Amino acid sequence: MSNEFPQTMGQQFGRRSWAEPWKIKMVEPIKMISRAEREAALQEAGYNTFLLRSADVYIDLLTDSGTSAMSDRQWAGMMLGDEAYAGSRNFYHLEVAIQSYYGYRYVVPTHQGRGAEHLISQAVIKPGQYIPGNMYFTTTRLHQELAGGIFVDVIIDEAHDPTSEHPFKGDVDLDKLQALIDKVGAAQIAYVSLAGTVNMAGGQPVSLANVKALRELCDQYGIRIYLDATRMMENCFFIQEREEGYADKPIAAILKEFCSYTDGAWMSAKKDNLVNIGGWLAVNQEDVFDLARNMVVIYEGLHTYGGMSGRDMEALAIGIEEAVQDDYVKARVNQVRYLGELLTDWGIPLVQPVGGHAIFLDAKRFYPHIPQNEFPSQTLAAELYLDSGVRSMERGIVSAGRDPETGDHRYPRLELTRLTIPRRVYTQAHMDVVAESVKAIYDNREQTRGLKMVYEPKYLRFFQARFERI
Ligand code: F0G
Repeated sequence: MSNEFPQTMGQQFGRRSWAEPWKIKMVEPIKMISRAEREAALQEAGYNTFLLRSADVYIDLLTDSGTSAMSDRQWAGMMLGDEAYAGSRNFYHLEVAIQSYYGYRYVVPTHQGRGAEHLISQAVIKPGQYIPGNMYFTTTRLHQELAGGIFVDVIIDEAHDPTSEHPFKGDVDLDKLQALIDKVGAAQIAYVSLAGTVNMAGGQPVSLANVKALRELCDQYGIRIYLDATRMMENCFFIQEREEGYADKPIAAILKEFCSYTDGAWMSAKKDNLVNIGGWLAVNQEDVFDLARNMVVIYEGLHTYGGMSGRDMEALAIGIEEAVQDDYVKARVNQVRYLGELLTDWGIPLVQPVGGHAIFLDAKRFYPHIPQNEFPSQTLAAELYLDSGVRSMERGIVSAGRDPETGDHRYPRLELTRLTIPRRVYTQAHMDVVAESVKAIYDNREQTRGLKMVYEPKYLRFFQARFERI
């Protein structure tokens, strides 16, 4: 390459960019409605982005869940759906895909991740038992609590610090886990709940060294480890990039090794498995499998479809294979990072290092004048929508809910607004539009006031709560 490009074109001698390993074959039009229409839509939605209509949204970064673009191969697979009630051939394809890429022995299909969380929680938690984990996730913890369990956060302290540059902020603090074992006894621990890339910490990864050490500690006490594999591909990318000895290992090999230190996994296939709906539970122990496979027929559907149609299972089996490709995962994480680097360059406070699926704006530093009980992250999500029709999500005090014992708000240290990037959906130009809008509301931050909650549902309040301006 010559250096004849003028600097104004952003070209530098020797520069080499990454690009997506696909081209676009079908498009879905999107359009930004007027500021006055956005004001009205937001008010009707009670300042909760979950309650907006998608037609009123321009760039939808609410979630990476079920929002992926499927490939032509997956769409072709949809035509091969075997919609038999029992024994669909697509189930056996899915079973083989999970066994060969994740390495677990037994598979139970579910309609989505929380269906699998329900089954594993009911199957292995006895009331009063503890479930230590590397930070809570909303639906995961609720299912653990509904089964009578008590969640205990044993993630390293760095995970709660949005400015810490620790490369593996998802790691379990083994001293915290040991202290819990010493306090309550190993028999009172149902299992360790380990998530690959920790959603609520900002999409932060767990190192292989940590899961290996965790396995050794748990083996001393006969404690099982179950993995939330929802975003494991992204976790594997960070291992490949950051952990010594893994630079030349394919994502597929890293995934297999990581899972080998765990006893099973639940999966929201709507994320890393590149489908719009689906989930699964996979375990190595026959006793847990027997229970889960029996329960799935009560809550989800027969054990060879678990709430998915045959065509869904086919798209999922193909999605798993596409999701472990190195060039795909690299482009996926780098697109998130592209947005993160723009915002970081402009001095906007966000969780560092940038994680695998989303940018997490640090609302406490974004709006230091808004107290946490006036919902700074919820406010930020509302302002962003008003400015540009970009939809994001609160991940702070509203998501954390109330303490079941005291009834008070839980006050999490992290008060974040998540800009979640769907897989294979938006371009770099969309990322530019988003970054510029965040910059605009940041420049106007001192004028912004908080919110008050005027309606609060009992469970997972962030989905349906309503707010008004103060
Ligand atoms: N585990 C993690 C880490 C998740 O992020 C989710 C869903 C689930 C489990 C539950 O799976 O939605 O298929 O029932 N997270 C979505 C999100 C909703 O936007 O982060 P599900």
